[in-house]
Amino acid sequence: MAIIGCGTSLNAGETIASTFSRLGATPTSLVVASESQGTVLEDDTLVIAMSQSGETADVLRAIDDLNLRHGHLVAITNTAHSSLARRADVVLDRLAGEEIGVAATKTFTAQVVTGITFAISALHARGTVPRSIVLRLLNELYELPDHIEQAISAAESAVPSVLDSLSEHSGMLLLGRGTGVPYAREGALKIKELTYRWAEAFPAGGLKHGPLALIEKGTPVIVVDHSDPRLPRNIAEVQARGANVLRIGGAGSNIPAVADATLNNLGRQLWGPLEAAVPLQVISRLLARRLGTEVDRPRNLAKAVTVE
Ligand code: M6R
Repeated sequence: MAIIGCGTSLNAGETIASTFSRLGATPTSLVVASESQGTVLEDDTLVIAMSQSGETADVLRAIDDLNLRHGHLVAITNTAHSSLARRADVVLDRLAGEEIGVAATKTFTAQVVTGITFAISALHARGTVPRSIVLRLLNELYELPDHIEQAISAAESAVPSVLDSLSEHSGMLLLGRGTGVPYAREGALKIKELTYRWAEAFPAGGLKHGPLALIEKGTPVIVVDHSDPRLPRNIAEVQARGANVLRIGGAGSNIPAVADATLNNLGRQLWGPLEAAVPLQVISRLLARRLGTEVDRPRNLAKAVTVE
């Protein structure tokens, strides 16, 4: 299987790839659509193309380049009559409703949910995942709207008090581990897009391979903390160099927005802490407003990127 997309859609694709590989041991590759030239897929590879608009030129070109001889194309899109949808064998509509702001927000969460429900049902139909696990995962998904609401209110009450320290610095790092990494990447993308500040996401385990050199006294480091047991050591590494750590996690963190922040929650181990995406969106929006940047129409960007 291969999952292709750009920007936020690619970040969502990473959570879906993780679900297919961790739940079904399905070999899955993630293809950055703009860099797809030279990618070789085996015959019969199922390709999932992720695109909110369904008009992203890099994605359409990648599909042509991949030359799906015997494979099938599934489109996960918010625009069921788009160019992408017309090329696909199967279209999964995210049904998120129209999204007006350039930054993808509700379409990110909707495409993650659409993709993981597709993964669960496909793996069950193939006989890979027993019904008991399917029911457990569906129960966790049913709880998601409540968890997202809680995350919104936790973020709206906690974020204003950290805006001063975030705005004093020219940029920030975002860290995650395991299934938390795509959410760190998505947060960094949203912060760049809305605030025009640099924000770089790294797997926390990679700090010592280079990014640690960026840390100085007061550098903001936002951690997507879904209780991966390896994270405390990484947090200690950056704190020892003076970083100002902001944890988005369970009870006791700066933004207590991750419900049931334990790894007993099976979804955490497969697609990660989806509700952590919301505080990152709230940070981006409130920081942008503090800095006076344009939240709905960031400079230099378009909602649908129809040129390569
Ligand atoms: O319409 P698409 O999902 O294909 O768009 C892909 C990216 O251009 C898009 O996700 C972009 O990164 C967003 N503006 C991020 O908020």
